[in-house]
Amino acid sequence: MAADARSAQARTATHWQRFAVPYEFPVVFTEGVFDPENPVLRDVLCRVEPGKRHRVVFFVDDGLDAGRTPVSEAIARYAQRHADAIELACPPVAMPGGEKVKTELHFVESAQQKLFDLHVDRHSFVVAVGGGAVLDAIGLVAATTHRGVRHIRIPSTVLAQNDSGVGVKNGVNLQGVKNFVGTFAPPFAVINDMEFIVTLPERDKIAGMAEAVKVALIRDAEFFGWIERHMDDLATFERAAMATMIRRCAELHMRQIGQGGDPFETGSARPLDYGHWSAHKLESLTRHHVRHGEAVAIGMALDARYSVLAGQLAPGEEERICALLEYLGFNLWHPALAKSGANGEWVILEGLRDFQEHLGGELTVTLLGGIGTGVEVHEIDRERMRQAMAWLKGRASA
Ligand SMILES: NC(=O)c1ccc[n+]([C@@H]2O[C@H](COP(=O)([O-])OP(=O)(O)OC[C@H]3O[C@@H](n4cnc5c(N)ncnc54)[C@H](O)[C@@H]3O)[C@@H](O)[C@H]2O)c1
Ligand SMILES: [Zn+2]
Repeated sequence: MAADARSAQARTATHWQRFAVPYEFPVVFTEGVFDPENPVLRDVLCRVEPGKRHRVVFFVDDGLDAGRTPVSEAIARYAQRHADAIELACPPVAMPGGEKVKTELHFVESAQQKLFDLHVDRHSFVVAVGGGAVLDAIGLVAATTHRGVRHIRIPSTVLAQNDSGVGVKNGVNLQGVKNFVGTFAPPFAVINDMEFIVTLPERDKIAGMAEAVKVALIRDAEFFGWIERHMDDLATFERAAMATMIRRCAELHMRQIGQGGDPFETGSARPLDYGHWSAHKLESLTRHHVRHGEAVAIGMALDARYSVLAGQLAPGEEERICALLEYLGFNLWHPALAKSGANGEWVILEGLRDFQEHLGGELTVTLLGGIGTGVEVHEIDRERMRQAMAWLKGRASA
């Protein structure tokens, strides 16, 4: 060894710091979470420190307060009834629902200002009630204020109940890139209440089903069969069918996060993001006029056709998938898909690069090896993808 290297070694000592932090949080399915007789929320708040009066700040999606019984009033009544366990630090704070709250970042700042003004500490609770967008924005606020305030999610859309709300991520959009800023932060608890789904506009009821079809396609052929058998009930939003679909989908997501071996996505794979590389791009391209679920349905149809062209999926299965999605109410084409950039290339294909950049490492895209079987690939043949796009476009205009 050279003298320089020896002396550098003599000046260096490496101590390995190692610890493991176990996470656990309940995901509760209930009905009427703010019914004063329902103990779920109270029990969840008191889970770690029973006997204490907990300070809580609620942030509520304003789409919920548009209903006949404003949720904010129900929360106030609930807190009054359980005043021995719950102290509302302030009346529930309304947040704009939808992508706006994730894109105009002054909303995040104002929520943080609120927590500052109220002297919220790390033993207080920040509860978010709303769709995936409000949950993502307030999740970020809770995770970053004081480096982490206890956070409870009460998702109010199909998508948030069966997918985003039971996960461990939050985020907001920056530079036109979805979820460019965010953290992995497991919540303190999640409470899914089927009652919220009743007031949801049809468009959002449909959109959320995309994630159920997705997780069935990549993980659970039996569940896919169940969705097909119940498509009449699902297309008419029959309550029991919707509840079963949401619960099964949430369970599959939880299993992937808990047992998939990479809850914080440190590798290059995004196993649950089938159909998502183009979906995220389409959402940005349409400035979020296309909902996440709507874009995912298109992305899944595209990647199903690509899977067939790549010899992974049996021909005809892509049509079966498209037929189901359309029956559920999805439109599988959007004019923005055909937008070309200065180089004449379809802009949507940039989604592949964005997708890779978000995680780093190798490009990893999930395709289908069959219904119920996701297959990871590391290369996408652009010409083949163009053919898949042309097929989808042709189908839509047929
Ligand atoms: N963090 C994650 O892991 C993750 C995963 C998937 C999706 N997401 C994000 O979730 C967001 C989409 O969430 P979404 O599909 O729930 O839609 P959304 O949050 O955009 O809400 C859609 C609309 O429904 C309204 N609304 C919400 N609940 C309602 C109710 N019960 N009754 C009436 N109106 C109601 C909202 O005000 C909004 O106008 C996207 O930003 C997406 O990126 C996050
Ligand atoms: Zn998704």
